[in-house]
Amino acid sequence: MAKSVLHTSLCDDLKIEYPIFLAGMGVKGHATPPELVAAVCEAGGMGILGCSWLDSDEVRRRIRAVRNLTDRPFGVDLLLPASMTDATPDRAEMRARIERDHPKHMAFARSLIEKFGLKTVTPTGGVLSADFIRRQVDACLEERIAVFAAGLGDPGWVVPLAHQAGIKVMGLVGNVRNAKRQVQSGVDYVIAQGYEAGGHTGTIANFPLIPMVVDAVSPVPVIAAGAIADGRTLLAGLALGAVGAWVGTAFLLAEESQLYPAHQDEIIRGAAEDFVITRAYTGKTARDYRNDVIKAWDESGLRALPMPLQGVLLDDLIASAEAAGRPELINNPAGQIAGMLTRKRPAREILLSMVAEAEAGLDRLAAMRS
Ligand SMILES: Cc1cc2nc3c(=O)[nH]c(=O)nc-3n(C[C@H](O)[C@H](O)[C@H](O)COP(=O)(O)O)c2cc1C
Repeated sequence: MAKSVLHTSLCDDLKIEYPIFLAGMGVKGHATPPELVAAVCEAGGMGILGCSWLDSDEVRRRIRAVRNLTDRPFGVDLLLPASMTDATPDRAEMRARIERDHPKHMAFARSLIEKFGLKTVTPTGGVLSADFIRRQVDACLEERIAVFAAGLGDPGWVVPLAHQAGIKVMGLVGNVRNAKRQVQSGVDYVIAQGYEAGGHTGTIANFPLIPMVVDAVSPVPVIAAGAIADGRTLLAGLALGAVGAWVGTAFLLAEESQLYPAHQDEIIRGAAEDFVITRAYTGKTARDYRNDVIKAWDESGLRALPMPLQGVLLDDLIASAEAAGRPELINNPAGQIAGMLTRKRPAREILLSMVAEAEAGLDRLAAMRS
């Protein structure tokens, strides 16, 4: 079969058909389960398991689950925040620290549980800390995945270890300064993620960001992230100089995704402006569907605690809402492109229609010359 016109050199390097990635999306593993990762790989793209909040045993289990579903290469995405070296994996200790140093925040978190009529459930499981992350990274290295992607922070310490294990490293950035820093750390690919994206995001939109990052890091290849969901947006990323697309929100509506159906409905019903930037759930700026918790946080006038404390603060609310079957109170990270998405489809269809539309779009542009 003839190769698609979209088959770039990146595809040869990574042994994939199309330069389209399922972005690694954390949120406790619902967003990018092994079934979705494998489906994207089987359709010719590359699936990335979002494992940021999962402990190392679960990371390993999921990697093996993908291997049972596909022989194709895939990756894992973790968060490597630079500034949380004094966090401990012990949740009780972190809660005690918040209670002691930030009593108003703790009072706010308790008031939310009361306001929404929930019964308090205290989550178990570790907290994102240097130890926790080191064990996650070790699982990836030992399992020899194809690609390691770092969502936040500096993957510099992972690069030599990954390369030794034959793993390519991608670093996600939202500005030129971080892109240069990532390249100095030795990453193989830079993912430039614009302000319009879902999840943690910076302040620069993709139109300025992508060409600036491409110029700053050339010849290191750049992958575009943020608001890519159809052939037009895929082509736009390539036109700006990227060699691939990192797709998050559009795949949240894949039939293989295990997102709460209520969150998928918010994405289907929501307009672009319903997906707002907030620090409420994690302490870092993230684009989430604007729900009643975010509204209450905005009204509180409190300043967000640094990561991972803000997450620990809100984890009780999330666990309580989960137990009560109230997903509308749980964070639903998604991007502005949600305003364009109208239905659930199999991952294969999402990916292949993006490819077909982009190929047709190229023909349309070529016809403009005649
Ligand atoms: C639900 C959700 C969770 C995310 N979690 C992570 C994460 O854990 N690590 C990360 O590097 N990026 C994460 N992101 C960002 C994505 O990797 C990606 O850059 C972004 O979704 C691209 O923009 P789009 O949503 O407009 O396609 C997340 C995004 C979403 C929507």
